[in-house]
Amino acid sequence: MHRVAISSTGLYLPPEIITNAELVAAFNSFADESNAMHAEDIEAGRRAPVPQSSVEFIEKASGIKRRYVMEKTGVLDPQRMHPRLQARPDNEISLMAEIGVAAAREALARAGKHPEDIDGVICAAANMQRAYPAMAIEIQTALGIKGFGFDMNVACSSATFAIEMAVNAVKVGSARAILVVDPEITSPHLAWKDRDCHFIFGDVCTAILIERLDTAPAGSFEVLGTRLFTSFSNSIRNNAGFMSRSEDRDPDDRDQLFYQEGRKVFKEVCPLAAEHMTAHLAEHALVPTDVRRYWLHQANLSMNQLIARKLLGRDATADDAPVILNEFANTASAGSIIAFHRHHDDIEAGQIGVICSFGAGYSIGSVIVRRT
Ligand code: COA
Repeated sequence: MHRVAISSTGLYLPPEIITNAELVAAFNSFADESNAMHAEDIEAGRRAPVPQSSVEFIEKASGIKRRYVMEKTGVLDPQRMHPRLQARPDNEISLMAEIGVAAAREALARAGKHPEDIDGVICAAANMQRAYPAMAIEIQTALGIKGFGFDMNVACSSATFAIEMAVNAVKVGSARAILVVDPEITSPHLAWKDRDCHFIFGDVCTAILIERLDTAPAGSFEVLGTRLFTSFSNSIRNNAGFMSRSEDRDPDDRDQLFYQEGRKVFKEVCPLAAEHMTAHLAEHALVPTDVRRYWLHQANLSMNQLIARKLLGRDATADDAPVILNEFANTASAGSIIAFHRHHDDIEAGQIGVICSFGAGYSIGSVIVRRT
C-alpha cells in the first residue's frame, strides 16, 4: 500500500461573466414579455403571472454576486434564456474535453509533472455532454497520457467521489498518478426562466492531481482518508436522459432541466454534512476543531455558515471556511475544489484540512488532508 497525496490543482475560467444586475434585467424583460403575451389568461385567472426577480433577494438568499459562463448572449436574450453553444464536428475536441485539458495542464505544470508520469484520467462532473465515448478518454488522448480514462457522475459530489476512486487506485498500486478533471458546464441544464433558481449555477473546470506521496512535490497534501455517503432523495433532480425522446418529452418540459426544493435541501443536507465530517474525523482520532481549514461545497453562503457553526461551535470566518460562490455561484462538484485551489497556500506543514461536497442524490464526500 502506498501513501497518497493531492499534489496540485488547476482551474479553468470561462470567458464570460454575468453579474446579478445583468441576469435580473434579462429575467425581468422576459417576465414582462411573457406577462404581456398572456395578459388575457392572467386577467381571467387561468395563468399566474411570472413574478419579477431581484438582485437583493439573490444576494441575501444565496451569497451569489456573479457567475462565469461559456456563453452569455443566449442566456441574456429574453427570447431565448439559455446559452448558445456551437455543435462541433466529431473530429474536433469537445467543449468539456477542451476545458478539461486546460485545467489539467495547469495542475500538471504546478506539480512539475508530465503526461508520462500519469496513468489515468477520471472526468467527474454533474452534467455530461454526451453518453460516449467518455470525455475522460478524449482528455487522456489530448494530453498524451497512456493508461485509462472513464467518466463518472455523482452530481455535486462527483469530484470528491472521484478523488476516492483515484486515491484507492494509487494506494493499491494500479496507477502511479491520476488526474481528476471536473468540467462543470452547468449553464445548459439551468432553468433560466425559473425565478426560484435562475441565479444558482455557473460554469468552470477544475483538475486535481492525485499521486503517490513519495513522488509528490514538497508542500503537497497527504490524503489521510476519504469517506462517501449517499441517501436517495427527490429534492434535487433532472429527468433529462436518453429515454426523453421515447417518452415524447419536449426539451423545454420543466423536469428536463434542474429543479429542486431549495428549503428542504437546506434543512436536510446541513445536519447530514456536519455529522458526516464529524464522524469521518473521529475515524482519524480528530475532532472538528483540530481542522485548520474546511473547503466546503459552494451552493449557498448561509448553508456553509450553518455547517461550519455546527462543526466549530462558533461562527466561522472566511479563514476557517473560504467562500468563492460570490464570484463563481454554484459550480456543482467543482466548488469545494476551487475553494481549495484558491485558499491553501497559507496552510502550514502538519496542519489538517477537509474538502467536503454535498448535493443531489443526496451525496456527501469528504477528504481529510494534511500538509506535508
Ligand atoms: N427574486 C425575488 N424573490 C424570489 C426569487 C427571486 N429570484 N426567488 C424566490 N423568491 C421568493 C419566493 O417566491 C418566496 O416568496 P414567498 O415567501 O412569497 O413564497 C421567497 O422569495 C423565499 O423563497 P425561498 O425559495 O423559500 O428562498 P430561500 O431562502 O430558501 O432561498 C435558495 C432559495 C435556493 C437560495 C436556498 O433555498 C438554497 O440555496 N438552498 C440550498 C440549495 C442547494 O444547495 N441546492 C443544491 C443544488 S446542487
